[in-house]
Amino acid sequence: MILEARSAGKTFRARRGGGAVHAVRDASLTARPGEFIAIVGESGSGKSTLARMLLDLIPASSGAVEFNGVALSEMNGAQRKEFRLSVQAVLQDPAGSLNPRKTVGRAIGEIVRLHGVASGGAAVRGKVIEALQQVGLNPPESYLDRFPHELSGGQRQRVLIARALVLDPQIIVADEAVSALDASVKAGVLRLLSDLKERLGVGYVFITHDLPVVKKVADFVYVMKSGEIVERGPKERIFTDPQHPYTAQLLDAALELDLPGTAEDLERDPLPLG
Ligand SMILES: Nc1ncnc2c1ncn2[C@@H]1O[C@H](COP(=O)(O)OP(=O)(O)O)[C@@H](O)[C@H]1O
Ligand SMILES: [Mg+2]
Repeated sequence: MILEARSAGKTFRARRGGGAVHAVRDASLTARPGEFIAIVGESGSGKSTLARMLLDLIPASSGAVEFNGVALSEMNGAQRKEFRLSVQAVLQDPAGSLNPRKTVGRAIGEIVRLHGVASGGAAVRGKVIEALQQVGLNPPESYLDRFPHELSGGQRQRVLIARALVLDPQIIVADEAVSALDASVKAGVLRLLSDLKERLGVGYVFITHDLPVVKKVADFVYVMKSGEIVERGPKERIFTDPQHPYTAQLLDAALELDLPGTAEDLERDPLPLG
């Protein structure tokens, strides 16, 4: 299975003024199961627009996104069905990804029914419980009747991951999926994502403005600036030998933010307040 952007571009009409916004230009990337690719870049660089094209939420204005070699716009019914199961989204929790009026069991169960992965109460419940278990929510039964507001931020993010996983996806497109979480919770969710890659062979298109996060989890990195992918390469190379001045600038900025030390360092040796 392969998901590819081929010189994909997206132009919007500007929200003000009526001109054109080239949100993404000529972007090419390849996502496969078992591979953790990251797209990194500052706010407004076009990351979310590229993610929405990869998820078939918006069409490309130029070039194409292809699933197993077929443009998303050209897929037949069977191919579309396979795409809808194989490629899942995990978005940032504050974006309101979970309906506040639905319990965890219902939210995930509906997805199972909608996609015909299982039918009948017991089978659906079994799938939901399995997914909750896979994301480390234990005991899974204790989460079925809980509402989003009864969960912590990290637990909600795990529910979102479970909702994606329940369809046995091959690739998860995660847009700023851990950006809102506290450092220690974030580390736990990142470990979970890496673990799911190893155990289930899931691949990721992981989108973030947070370079230290990329360093932890990615295999391959794409750097975006002003709608363009300006650099791509294996993580080790990107971090040790950036070729584009913008990548070097991002690394410098991340280093500066890192200076006070990691969360663990801070716990041991807190900075003076005030
Ligand atoms: N629906 C839209 N209409 C007009 N402009 C948009 C729309 N969506 C995104 N943009 C613009 O496209 C650019 C890239 O946005 P986005 O993909 O959200 O960047 P990022 O996720 O990297 O912050 C921004 O200039 C943004 O204002
Ligand atoms: Mg974004």
